Amino acid sequence: AFTPRVFSGIKPSGGLTLGNYLGAIKRFVGMQGQMETIYCVVDMHAITVWQDPKELANMTREVAAGYLAAGLDPSQSILFNQSQVAAHAELGWIFNCVARVGWMNRMTQFKDKAGSNAEKASLGLYAYPSLMAADILVYHATHVPVGEDQKQHVELTRDIAAKFNHDYKVDFFPATEPVIEGPAMRIMNLRDGTKKMSKSGESDMERINMTDDADKIAKKFKKAKTDPEPLPETVEGLASRPEARNLVEIYAALDDTTPEAVIAQYPGAGWGTFKPALADLAVAKLAPISVEMARFMDDPAEIDRILASGSEKARAIADPILKQTYDIVGL
Ligand code: ADP
Ligand code: NA
Repeated sequence: AFTPRVFSGIKPSGGLTLGNYLGAIKRFVGMQGQMETIYCVVDMHAITVWQDPKELANMTREVAAGYLAAGLDPSQSILFNQSQVAAHAELGWIFNCVARVGWMNRMTQFKDKAGSNAEKASLGLYAYPSLMAADILVYHATHVPVGEDQKQHVELTRDIAAKFNHDYKVDFFPATEPVIEGPAMRIMNLRDGTKKMSKSGESDMERINMTDDADKIAKKFKKAKTDPEPLPETVEGLASRPEARNLVEIYAALDDTTPEAVIAQYPGAGWGTFKPALADLAVAKLAPISVEMARFMDDPAEIDRILASGSEKARAIADPILKQTYDIVGL
């Protein structure tokens, strides 16, 4: 039996979006205090695609500021950045030798990210799910809160743990559970409702950033693409309406409720009613966080101190697990 322990992370590869907030950070905060929680800024993952070195250091601080501003508390959760805990990369190498090339070939996110020019993608981008497995298993984490897009990678993590345990005849790594629940598992962009809202999306208008001010948030929701129909009378009416469903799910996630309850509150409402209500709700929830983020970003040295102290706590858990892994492997 493994002690319940949560691990998750976010790449510092661009500004945090509403997708990161609702699909990840808000849920990280919700799990804090319920079990042991470890939250990472996964900077080693960011460099799988080119990052300007100066920008990268700042983005790492910005993700940390997002964590802190949203309510993660360094006295309740371990908050740190991946590159300060060498055990991740060391276990990642061992897992590169456990995972099979065929498993990596099935990862849909690599296909999306590498696009038509996979030959030119970094080897790191290809192997990244194996490092992600190490991020999780170097803490023997049992629960990983993630958005829908990461489900396949957490399943791969389970496959790596199972193959390691089988090959070395041990019961050493747990079968980690992905925690994918609630209305915010796949927030779509505001332009077409068919692609996930992402830091790296083409235009700023298609995503809400955690640092956007009230005016920007309102403007972006006002311009969000929808069909011309009003909201349905029941939630089933959202089935083949991706843009409408996305806005209702965003509302539900921001308001800690369900799409059913949102539809019950606005049955048959037109967009002229619903979009401003959504914008007001988003501003009420996000504006205080963006103010706090800016306050943290004014004191980068303090963020660095928090990350350094979290890294020390992380190493205290990871290093002994890595040492045992080396012993099992015969290294
Ligand atoms: P991004 O996809 O924005 O580059 P990451 O890959 O670092 O961000 O993802 C960090 C976490 O945020 C993951 O758990 C991911 O599933 C979640 N996430 C990112 N975008 C969304 C989204 N649009 N909807 C729900 N969750 C998301
Ligand atoms: Na992602």
